This record gives sequence, C-alpha cells and structure tokens, in this order.
Amino acid sequence: MKPVYFTAALCCLVIQSAQSQTAIPVPDTLSGSSITLTMHQDSVQFFPGRFTQTLAFNQYSYLGPTLILNNGQNVSITVDNQIGDTTNVHWHGLHVSPRNDGGPHTMILNGMSWTPQFTVLDKASSFWYHPHFNGKTAEHAMRGAAGMIIVRDNEEAQLNLPRTYGVDDFPIIIQSSQLDSNNQFMPFGMQDSTLLVNGIPANNGYMAYLNVPAQVVRLRLLNAAGERTFNFGFIGNMPFKVIGSDGGLLSAPVSATRLRVSPGERYEILLDLTTLKGQSTYLVSYGSELPMGVQGGPTMPMSPGNPPMYSPLNGIDYNIFKITIGNPTANPVTSIPSALITVTPIPVAQSNITRTITMTSVDSLAMDGPFYFNQQLFDMDRIDYYIPINNTEIWELTNNSMVAHPFHIHNVQYYVLDRDGNLPPVYERGRKDVVLVKPNETVRFITKFETFTDTLVPYPFHCHILMHEEDGMMGQFLVVPRIAVGLNEVAALTKKLLLYPNPISTNEINIKLPEDNYAPLDIKIYDLTGKCVYVTKNTHQRTLGIIDLPAATYHIVASQDGKFYQTKFIKR
Ligand code: C2O
Ligand code: CU
Ligand code: CU
Repeated sequence: MKPVYFTAALCCLVIQSAQSQTAIPVPDTLSGSSITLTMHQDSVQFFPGRFTQTLAFNQYSYLGPTLILNNGQNVSITVDNQIGDTTNVHWHGLHVSPRNDGGPHTMILNGMSWTPQFTVLDKASSFWYHPHFNGKTAEHAMRGAAGMIIVRDNEEAQLNLPRTYGVDDFPIIIQSSQLDSNNQFMPFGMQDSTLLVNGIPANNGYMAYLNVPAQVVRLRLLNAAGERTFNFGFIGNMPFKVIGSDGGLLSAPVSATRLRVSPGERYEILLDLTTLKGQSTYLVSYGSELPMGVQGGPTMPMSPGNPPMYSPLNGIDYNIFKITIGNPTANPVTSIPSALITVTPIPVAQSNITRTITMTSVDSLAMDGPFYFNQQLFDMDRIDYYIPINNTEIWELTNNSMVAHPFHIHNVQYYVLDRDGNLPPVYERGRKDVVLVKPNETVRFITKFETFTDTLVPYPFHCHILMHEEDGMMGQFLVVPRIAVGLNEVAALTKKLLLYPNPISTNEINIKLPEDNYAPLDIKIYDLTGKCVYVTKNTHQRTLGIIDLPAATYHIVASQDGKFYQTKFIKR
C-alpha cells in the first residue's frame, strides 16, 4: 500500500464525519412490453444557491428509471421529447437494428415521440440509455438524461446470485461533472470535480451512503462520466468478485481489489459482507494508480501558454460513497458461486478480416483533441465500412495520441483478444462493448455482425469520452446483405453494373453505370475465391484492360460516392 493511500483515506474519513449525508436513491423500475420514457427539463438544487438546470425522464428531476427487460421478450419503448430541443435516446450495448438503436441518425424533434420496437436478444447484464443526437450527446447526457437497463435471462436466473433489485442488487451510476459558478453543468469541462452517485452529490462536503444487508451484495457499476476513468476498490483493499462485464456474465467470478472502469463501461461485482454487520466501508477510486494519459490519472504537465485542464480529482485517491452494513434479509445469498456461465469467445481463425483503426490527434502533443480515427473526423454522410452480414471481424485499435480512449461500437458485443499482444485481464475476457485503449497501446477484439442489415442507416463506433465523440472521434458502418463478391470486401451492392461484351474473348471490357455521370470510379475485380485481382482508383475510364487476367469467371465492383455497382463476367 502506498503512503499516499493512507493520507487520502484518513483525511477523507475525518472530513466526512462532519458532512451532510444522503442515502443513495435507487431508481424505480419500468418493465413489460410497453414502456414510456418522457424526457423533460427540470432543475435540482444540488448545492446551496442556484438550482442546476437538468434533463431527466418521467418522475425524476435527474436521471431516469431503470428498465428491466427479459431476454426473448418484445418491447416497444415510446420516447417522448419534452426538452425544448432535438434529441434521441440510444440503448447502449443492446443488439437491435440500426433504426431502433437511437444512434446519431435518429432524430426526435421537441414535442414529438419515437417508438422503437424490438426483441431483447441480449444476455443478462447491465446496459444503459442516454441521448445520442449528433452534437448534443454530451450536453444532454451530462445534464442528466441517462438511466440503467437491466437484462435478465434464464441462464442467469439459474445461478444463486443476489437479484432483488434495491435490496441486495443495486444500480450504481457514477458521474463526475463540472459545474460553473452558477451551479450549471459544463458538459465539456475537464475540470470535473463534482461526483454524483445515482444523481446525488458525493464529495466536496457531501457524503453519499448505501445501506446494504450483511450478506452477498451485487453492485452494477456504470461509469456515466463524460471523460473520467475510475479505478475502483474498497478501503483496506477489501477483495471483491467481478462477475460480469458490459454485455454478460463472466465464466467465473474473478477476485479483485481494483477495477478500472472507463466512460460507458459497466461491471457487476459481488461483495461478501456476511460477517460485517454493523460495519462500513467505502467505494474508492484509486486515481493515483492510474497511468498518466488516462483521464483520472495524474494530469500531464502542460506546455506553457496552454490553459490548465486540471481537475482536483486527477491523480488522487478519493472516496465515492460509504457502504453501511445492516441486518441481513430473510433469505440471504451467503456464498458466491464458483462458476457462472459458459463464455465462448469467437475463435480467431473464424475472422474474415482485420480492420485497423488508429487514434491520433491534430498534433501529437494535443491533449484536448480533436482526435481522429484513421486521420478522419466523423462525417454523417460518409460510410466508413460496409460489413457483410455475419462477417466475423478482428478490429485492431492503435492509440497514437497522448490520451486514453474508451472505444465503443454499437450493435455488437465483442471479445478483447489482446492488449499489446498479451491476454487482457481476466475480468476483460467476457462480452464487452467499450474498451479503454491507452496511449501507445494496441488492443484487438473479435466480433460477429449478426441479425440486422440496413443499406441506409449505419451504426456508429466512437470514443465514449463525450467531448472527443462530439469533436468527431466517431465513424460509422453499414451491415449489408452478403453477395458473392470478395469475402473480405464490400458487399453493399445494390445496383447492377452494365458490362459488355460478356462473355469476352478480348483483353478489354467496357463498363457503364445505370445512370452514368462519368464521375470517377474506384474499381475492383475479384476471382471466385474472393481474391482481389485488379484495382484501379479514381478513374474516368470506362474501358479496362484485363490482359493479365487468366480465363475465368470474375466479379467486378465499381464504387462512386459510397454507392456500389457490381456484376459478374466471364473471360474466355
Ligand atoms: Cu453509449 Cu454510442 O454510445
Ligand atoms: Cu452505444
Ligand atoms: Cu477519446
């Protein structure tokens, strides 16, 4: 244990005994096949003086109810927008079609509602909902428009785990916010110093506490902060068990004393408090142990002339909330199972393609962005990847910037293969939809794009640091029907390319688009094994020399402005 730990913990304990103490509220739940979420403006007096303008759902003034969904059920969720601004709501982590997902292309005008309907296909885990309208995500989410989603399934129900909501199973939504001198949220602030737990202040003179029974207790930890990574642990290095990651349970509980959770990530943990009745502990973030570059770790020295981006929480250890342990319940869970579910990561050998994404900043020393994926900023009108349905893909993420980025992708859960070639920590070997990529690190994950295709509405992938996302650290992909072109290539394909003569006996083919404007084309030809045998980019030519191609059947794909045209031809 480092000396800094003692100092921080002791001083916090002393100060906190004189603080105003508030029990952490547990949001009410909504379930069933028809759910209504009304998003509205409100205000909360978090601190003396001015009320803070907030956004919230239903009866709440900040955050929203917890949605409880069962695997296999159908649900229709009406999102009613009463906030005086355009917004939307995204079901973070759920496997739903692009039009039900609430990504940046979904728009709910003020006074209007949106009613996605879907079947719950996910495994038991903790998910969440938050706005995702392009340009407004950070503002709306940081003002309080967020809530938790708990998915239940039969597999999880078989296990002897705490699952009585609000009794031995708690949603814990942790945020760190920056407020201005008038107590108003500053969604882009990096000087976040106000901790909120389920929407109540938890530091700077306020102490949040959670009453729990003296038995095995489950916490569903959600980092809903805009940029801060937490390094969770408990006073005195009390061990806990990690049982679930973003999208499902782990194969077995993992013993831990620390758990790094970046924005957007969820982990479920169990605490065995059976013998601790009458005692208390604290959930702590051991920020002093985070590396520089992870927001929440020590602040990097600023070059002279730059404004300070310093949060007083950076690089220190601080208490998040107190856990007070009372009487056990009637039928308590008193032991932790040794095994959970069968987790079957996708074998690397099944992957059809590796996509590489680099993360960079405008200049290599910039710490406040904008940050790029593959040197590009987000463009709502650009499709970055066309992914054939049922493709199994490895995504290789390399961070060449000075700041760590939590990488999130919609539609799928993935399995982290490695960090710089090494197996990830055991608690990262379950289903994930956010992974933190540290500066100079390469992270690979594997996933399969199943169930939903759409040739118009894409899914996004992005950094879950909301400021980075809003600044353009986002891309998008279509999952498209598969046709028999190159296995590893675009299959979006739609229109037929005109080609003559066909079959051909010469060494030239002529092509034409259905309504050809003679703008430049990118052209690829594949053989029947899916190997690309001919590429030309940005050409005005409509006559192609194919003298090098042996006699065979080929697929040709021409693309122009993100539209694809394809056909087959035979060379004799
Ligand atoms: Cu938490 Cu794109 O979302
Ligand atoms: Cu998401
Ligand atoms: Cu980022």
